[in-house]
Amino acid sequence: VTARRPFIAGNWKMNLDHLQSIAFVQKLAWSLKDAKHDFGKVEAAIFPPFTDLRSVQTLIDADKLDLELGAQDLSDNDSGAYTGDISGAFLARLDVKYVIVGHSERRTIHGETDEVVGAKVAAAHRHGLVPVLCVGETAEDLEKHGPSAVPVAQLRAALTTLPAGAEIVVAYEPVWAIGSGQAATPDQAEQVCAALRDALVEIAGADSAAATRILYGGSVKANNIASFLREPNVDGALVGGASLDITEFASIVRYQN
Ligand code: G3P
Repeated sequence: VTARRPFIAGNWKMNLDHLQSIAFVQKLAWSLKDAKHDFGKVEAAIFPPFTDLRSVQTLIDADKLDLELGAQDLSDNDSGAYTGDISGAFLARLDVKYVIVGHSERRTIHGETDEVVGAKVAAAHRHGLVPVLCVGETAEDLEKHGPSAVPVAQLRAALTTLPAGAEIVVAYEPVWAIGSGQAATPDQAEQVCAALRDALVEIAGADSAAATRILYGGSVKANNIASFLREPNVDGALVGGASLDITEFASIVRYQN
């Protein structure tokens, strides 16, 4: 079995401007340093708004912080007449490593289809970024189709193939658990993450599927994170609300202690 390094990702969504983000990241890094967090054991990344990326990247670089940087979205195009969009090339220039693709808020609010999400995965790979591909069902989907059908269909639709050597992170985020305070149970998360890994075997081959990290997201907090990470197919978490509280997020990153 390939060892997968646990991954805790903080999605700030549309919160914290670039000045607030500087103070936040410094305090978070101090808090993890004080606690002697071992990043070799658990990787941590933050996903600030686009306008914060430069400030946060400068800070990570200057202070050699053990934090990876991610963006919340990218364009499926590389350049041109796409007002308001951000190219993966720009993100790569800012040393961004990860990029969230297909978050349910983008699917719902901005009408992103599986086809667009798939094109964004490809764009991320074109620019050497690691896509964090989000999939997840609504409460209605769950009732109609059962637990894994919609997330697996979204994965297959967005990822028809995985080019050799291309890394991806998959995040299972049930829409009904996002921001609701009502997380999935660890059993529910495991069932869907296992089904996603089975689908990855068919899409990308057994080795790649075994090496791919699959995260759970939806009302993850310091007091439930460890129960998710105990599941064999859950390799980390995509954290929303709780990633905006320094103490809470640091405790989530340090769930092993
Ligand atoms: O991307 C993370 C997110 O959608 C989960 O949000 O606030 O339920 O942790 P939250």
